[in-house]
Amino acid sequence: MGRLEGKVAIVSGAGSGVGKEHALLLASEGAKVIVNDLGDNADATTAEITSAGGEAKSIKANVAEWATGESLVNAAVDTFGDLHILINNAGILRDAMSFSMSEEQFDEVIAVHLKGHFVCARAAAVYWRNQAKSGIEVPRRVIHTSSESGLFGGPAQANYASAKGGILTLSITLGRELSKYGVTTNVVAPRARTGLTDYIESMAAPEDPTQFDVYDPANVSPFVVWLCTDEAQEINGQAFIVGGSGIWWMRNWSHQNSVKLNGERWTLEAIDQHRELLFAEIDTGLPKFEAPPFS
Ligand SMILES: NC(=O)c1ccc[n+]([C@@H]2O[C@H](COP(=O)([O-])OP(=O)(O)OC[C@H]3O[C@@H](n4cnc5c(N)ncnc54)[C@H](O)[C@@H]3O)[C@@H](O)[C@H]2O)c1
Repeated sequence: MGRLEGKVAIVSGAGSGVGKEHALLLASEGAKVIVNDLGDNADATTAEITSAGGEAKSIKANVAEWATGESLVNAAVDTFGDLHILINNAGILRDAMSFSMSEEQFDEVIAVHLKGHFVCARAAAVYWRNQAKSGIEVPRRVIHTSSESGLFGGPAQANYASAKGGILTLSITLGRELSKYGVTTNVVAPRARTGLTDYIESMAAPEDPTQFDVYDPANVSPFVVWLCTDEAQEINGQAFIVGGSGIWWMRNWSHQNSVKLNGERWTLEAIDQHRELLFAEIDTGLPKFEAPPFS
């Protein structure tokens, strides 16, 4: 008996890479899956699930379009009777240094990632709120996909890092809005060899097939699927880097120090005078790109 028997899930961008592995593992744990992607690779994932005895349906649609959210949620409810899990995963890269980036490169990435995550989450939120209002309260899950670029700021990725950083805050906001309807929302930043990263030589599969393949995208899915189980109900608004054999729980934007005048507005001169106090013992350089090492 799978851990997700009776659950219905949507996975965006599930035609390849990390999203495909999420869809396969969800299905093998008993969930019925709406497999979303842009093209025929959605059908290939669906065929793999059904040939292994699972249940899935492909919906080929662009998550950057407003109507896609509703069409994915309707497909889940009409085909499988409910919706419990949304995994926002679809993504693209259009890397360039900020001074070389075009408007199109910026807009495309924001649209697929940030808007694409919101479009699907909004449609799910509408359905889940209506369900709760009619007295049906069961655990619901949103897992968003960010990136270490979104956590720390990645050079040549002003578009992608902004979208992925926005997704971190979007998740917390949705967590605050929807927890009263049984919904938790969390973020995973994967590390995996996929269509987006297969140019990175250090992520290549090991030559010795008996060695653990650290960057196999399937390594990311067990934690994502675990977050979807009823056992993860108290975990809400959190972010994790997941890859290889590692899970890193991440926290950011903590209060560092403060100075306060006695009921007066600051002046530039007063800031000069308090500068030592405000910045005492603080590293005021760029925040560290603190990606945790694998070993
Ligand atoms: N691979 C990594 O190491 C890594 C690191 C950080 C973040 N991520 C994130 O993980 C997610 C999955 O990426 P991946 O690495 O598996 O890459 P991938 O290219 O293998 O998968 C992304 C999938 O999303 C689909 N897609 C793209 N635009 C879409 C749209 N508008 N609507 C629907 N589907 C769309 C693509 O067709 C593709 O199948 C992305 O959000 C990516 O930014 C991956």
